[in-house]
Amino acid sequence: MEQTFVMIKPDGVKLGLIGTIIQRFEHKRLRLVRAEMMQLSLEQAKAHYLDLAHKPFFHDLLQFITSGEVMAMVWEGPNAVKAARCLIGATNPLESPSGTIRGDFALELDSNIIHGSDSVENAAREIQLYFPDYYAAKSVS
Ligand code: PPS
Repeated sequence: MEQTFVMIKPDGVKLGLIGTIIQRFEHKRLRLVRAEMMQLSLEQAKAHYLDLAHKPFFHDLLQFITSGEVMAMVWEGPNAVKAARCLIGATNPLESPSGTIRGDFALELDSNIIHGSDSVENAAREIQLYFPDYYAAKSVS
């Protein structure tokens, strides 16, 4: 069974969208495996977005993602990575159709409510980053 990492960003938490978002994932028949509210340190944020260090928006992205609490989650199901990305929608909310989370609740690229892993490999990397104990226990079982 595939797993993916999903994070409700500080804007989504502040807008009170945690319940709505979890409901959409559950209605899709994905299973919530882990969830934790957390405040990311700058180091954690840098580790997550390592691949984007060369981007002009990197500094703003770090500032945004550490600006408040996030809800970090692991979801499980058949093709969970792709299923979550379909629920989430396109990176740019203006290019994300109604019915997707970003299409329904976000307007701007730099505050797009939610993150979802873009591949099975990155899902494993992100689950390990946010839930190291769970990842380690899973790996030995
Ligand atoms: S890129 O440029 O194609 O590599 O980036 P992309 O895959 O579209 O987005 C990667 C993450 O960067 C965020 N992003 C931005 N943040 C702030 N400002 C700007 N301009 C911006 N552009 C992209 C985007 O929301 C992605 O975040 P995650 O958390 O991965 O969805």
